[in-house]
Amino acid sequence: MKVIVKDNYEEASLEAFKVMKEVVVNKPNAVLGLATGSTPLGLYKNMIEDHKENGTSYKNITTFNLDEYVGIDRNHPESYYTFMNKNLFSGLDIPAENVHLPYGDKKEDCDAYEKAMENYQVDIQLLGLGGNGHIGFNEPGTSFDETTHIVELQERTRKDNARFFENDINQVPTHAITMGIATIMKANKVLLIATGENKADAVKAMIEGPKDTSCPASALQDHKDVIVILDKAAASKLTK
Ligand code: F6R
Repeated sequence: MKVIVKDNYEEASLEAFKVMKEVVVNKPNAVLGLATGSTPLGLYKNMIEDHKENGTSYKNITTFNLDEYVGIDRNHPESYYTFMNKNLFSGLDIPAENVHLPYGDKKEDCDAYEKAMENYQVDIQLLGLGGNGHIGFNEPGTSFDETTHIVELQERTRKDNARFFENDINQVPTHAITMGIATIMKANKVLLIATGENKADAVKAMIEGPKDTSCPASALQDHKDVIVILDKAAASKLTK
């Protein structure tokens, strides 16, 4: 793992943008694995600004998102489908048919997403990090061999995400559909961003802990090309 520590969120986002832009410029038909949540917002803002100012094109880019809540309409303001359209896709020239997000609550929905990905090789997979060490919605305890599957969200995750649902945990969906760790590990390159003190324990477990399902992100220790971008707060518990 290559670990880069920046002073703050803005600098971490800019660093992540440089990595992402290099992939898109070097391979105009690249396949991007994308994430939602607060973490990638700064990166997405940079991508949109760069597209508008420098004309970096996403016309031939294909995307696959990590996850989506179960039981939430796609047009719900907090669905990941809405999130991606609002915070990234509407600001780029990416054709709608090139964009993929998982959706559904059954094994067939999971298998269909894996099937859709079969004909593509993800060039770069963007990840945020859960406070409990999850990547995608692979919660602690998930086997590293899992592909796309339905998960029950843990209380910590639902509490962390309550901020998007009027701070009411009862409004946060209980389940999600997510790429599995085996799906994520197939990407050529992984770009993980983690910022803020709330992530410091998970960052330490991911980088310095044993490779163990208690920290799903520790699976990345086995990936050949991982860039981890942190701010000082998220890096504060690292000892090495
Ligand atoms: C989102 C995702 C999650 C988030 C993680 C961190 O698509 O898969 O793993 O990356 O929960 O969320 P934020 O960025 O909101 O702290």
